[in-house]
Amino acid sequence: MISKERISEILSGYDAKKLKIASICSHSSLQLFHGARQEGIKTIGICAEGREEIYDAFPLARPDRFITVEDMRNLPEGELAADNAILIPHGSLVEYTGAGLVDLEVPILGNRHSLAWERDRTKMFEWMKAAGLQMPETIDPKKIDRPCVVKTPGAKGGMGYRVVASPEEFEEHFGGQIGVIAQEYLIGVRAYPHYFYSPLSKDGYRTAEGKLELLGIDRRFESNIDEAYRTSIAGITFKPSFTVVGNELLVLRESLLGDVMDMGKGIVEAAERLFGGIPGPFCIETVIDENMQFYAFEVSARIVAGTNIFPLGSPYTAFTYEEPMSMGRRIAVEIKRAAKEKKLGKIIY
Ligand SMILES: Nc1ncnc2c1ncn2[C@@H]1O[C@H](COP(=O)(O)OP(=O)(O)O)[C@@H](O)[C@H]1O
Ligand SMILES: [Mg+2]
Repeated sequence: MISKERISEILSGYDAKKLKIASICSHSSLQLFHGARQEGIKTIGICAEGREEIYDAFPLARPDRFITVEDMRNLPEGELAADNAILIPHGSLVEYTGAGLVDLEVPILGNRHSLAWERDRTKMFEWMKAAGLQMPETIDPKKIDRPCVVKTPGAKGGMGYRVVASPEEFEEHFGGQIGVIAQEYLIGVRAYPHYFYSPLSKDGYRTAEGKLELLGIDRRFESNIDEAYRTSIAGITFKPSFTVVGNELLVLRESLLGDVMDMGKGIVEAAERLFGGIPGPFCIETVIDENMQFYAFEVSARIVAGTNIFPLGSPYTAFTYEEPMSMGRRIAVEIKRAAKEKKLGKIIY
């Protein structure tokens, strides 16, 4: 991992008045560019050849400048740093750059330790446990005694997942594969709260070192499981799969909000203890069971695609901000404030 000192050195060469927001054109980049534009920050889109025209369809979310690359695994670090860019990580960026993400010689919003912790399932579970979250059991494949989701490595939006109910079934589909885990299947309503943690102020909902905001909640549409009732009624049987194709808005019973904020605070404070904090956006992926208990199965230490439902704010940001506030815009607000107060080092690594 590149040292924090090296990143601080690059940042100290930046012209604070010309800061730019950069990301890969994918995942939640429309929202990031749109939000930056609302705050008057110029943007750079790192784009695969031929995909620029998609952005012509959305003039208010089109990046001010494209950098076209042949291979997304090789981001133009030098060019970005020379243009005062702060890179915003999202799901596609994390997936494309892989383990190399933490070595990029360009300032990244957030703490790159958190991205390393999120990548490694063992570490991610350790972090969630330290946060005090209730979690589904991870089950030794040889001892599978109930329905389990088998998870393949990497953040590919559930692609390749499958439910198995016995060691034999596990062996048949995943025998010999490495990095695969079997996790108890959670029954209930899925809810994915989106948080923003700011170490720059202590008003609002406080944590040990800063404040935590709830910007929205989504639920995902996964193919094919989420339309399974249609298939069942049509008399067709099939194997469920969990590939994310989109998101929909969710508002929770107000009595559940205490737990939502508590879980977020747990994640923030555990991140501080374990690896120095998690400034910026993150998401906890949960299932709420019939007893109103939250079970968390994943943390994403970055903006998640579920926030794309709310380019003009959510049913929760309406109670926090006078103006429409997306996660993309919230990120831009934080960068502006940190630059003004000369505290970029607190939210960037
Ligand atoms: N323990 C579980 N029980 C039930 N469904 C699960 C469980 N874990 C994951 N899922 C389903 O699979 C989807 C993808 O899982 P996740 O681990 O979040 O994958 P990814 O890392 O690709 O985001 C989830 O959104 C959820 O619908
Ligand atoms: Mg997930």
